[in-house]
Amino acid sequence: MQQRISPASAITGAVTLPGDKSISHRYAMISAIAEGESRIHNYSTGADCHSTLGCVRALGIEVDVEGTEVVIRGRGLDGLRAPAGDLDAGNSGSTIRMLSGILAAQPFLTRIFGDESLSRRPMQRILRPLAEMGAEIGAREGKFPPLEIHGARLRPIDYTLPVPSAQVKTCVLLAGLFADGRTSVSEPVASRDHTEIALREFGADLSAAPQATPQGGPQAAPQDDQRKITLIGRPHLTGRELMVPADLSSAAFFIVAALLVPGSQLTIRGVGLNPTRSALLDFLTGMGAKILIPTLECRNGELVGDIVVQHSDLKGGTIEGALTAALIDEIPVLAVLGATTEEGLRVCDAGELRVKETDRIRTVVDNLRRLGVEAEELPDGMLIPGRQKFRAGEFNSFGDHRIAMAFAVAALCADGESVIGGAEAASVSFPEFWTTLARIAQ
Ligand code: S3P
Repeated sequence: MQQRISPASAITGAVTLPGDKSISHRYAMISAIAEGESRIHNYSTGADCHSTLGCVRALGIEVDVEGTEVVIRGRGLDGLRAPAGDLDAGNSGSTIRMLSGILAAQPFLTRIFGDESLSRRPMQRILRPLAEMGAEIGAREGKFPPLEIHGARLRPIDYTLPVPSAQVKTCVLLAGLFADGRTSVSEPVASRDHTEIALREFGADLSAAPQATPQGGPQAAPQDDQRKITLIGRPHLTGRELMVPADLSSAAFFIVAALLVPGSQLTIRGVGLNPTRSALLDFLTGMGAKILIPTLECRNGELVGDIVVQHSDLKGGTIEGALTAALIDEIPVLAVLGATTEEGLRVCDAGELRVKETDRIRTVVDNLRRLGVEAEELPDGMLIPGRQKFRAGEFNSFGDHRIAMAFAVAALCADGESVIGGAEAASVSFPEFWTTLARIAQ
């Protein structure tokens, strides 16, 4: 599908966006292994989260979907059934990586596969800890989907993540639920903690503590962003009523659109503002963005608030280290914004971008050049000089939802009508993106 985007004179109004993708996956998976009914409000409409529901259903769990209301009748830790066929994770890295933690503990064999993009994404990061816990998992070329998971009685482990990844952390913690004893995961950089919050909501015994640097010895002061999460296996999880906040990573496209287009003022309601996700807002306000959070409340352990954003002239900046991990999904749209700032944007330590739905360093730089923007591709990042203007053109999503949406935002500031090819990719996380954009772009 091709989507035409005309330049906008302002981004205005108030919008409500679909439920957070990360939280929706977690609520669905944990509901399936909890006892009793969970009722999830504002479940993500994205195809990825519906891939998770399809897998949960195939594992013998009753799932009713009515719009964004999802009811899941969990059957407890030992209630899943062997699926009749292979599980389809679609385009969703979260589905295959996180669900594998649960599948590794089942007394049956499961095969799980994905689409062409997912079939090229690395899985060793989950295969290693799950093998250490006692599961036997076959993978194409030893590292890619499809996975053939021979479930086993798992042993608890004390695992240190080699790369910051909330998906891997979640995989190990979900597997740890089935093992007798304590499973811990240490993370070098704090990643999104929705799993920890959700598991506590469902009744798991889980603690998270700052972690001392290994080379610093026992007296070393822990760094803020290092954490060790420990849970006790075989908990009693109970079904719950839950509300998913709007997805900040989806809101990011409209926040950037409002910042970019002069005369804009936009309100986005009920957005998830978990501190492990909201580095985006701190980074933007640090560059001079006018962003207000007039309301803030806590629901199911997650912070939720409204965001009001106004057009702003921004200074530019650097994304590196722990900040890169915290902003990883927002980098495509921040790259677009960076080109218009006073000093430009430097992105470092972002090798992980190369193994997302596409190689996002390459796909972002390719599209920036189609916009007439100067950009340099680095092995683990990119350099984008500031004060650049956008030329209308034809952009390509390369089948990646965040690339489609990032360059639709860029097209709002181009000097004529642009075309986004492969625009349907947005449905992976945000099927309503195009209609919402049409409503707020004047
Ligand atoms: C996610 C974690 C991140 C992120 C992805 C969702 C999650 O991936 O990019 O979109 O829900 O845990 P990694 O764990 O690979 O960093």
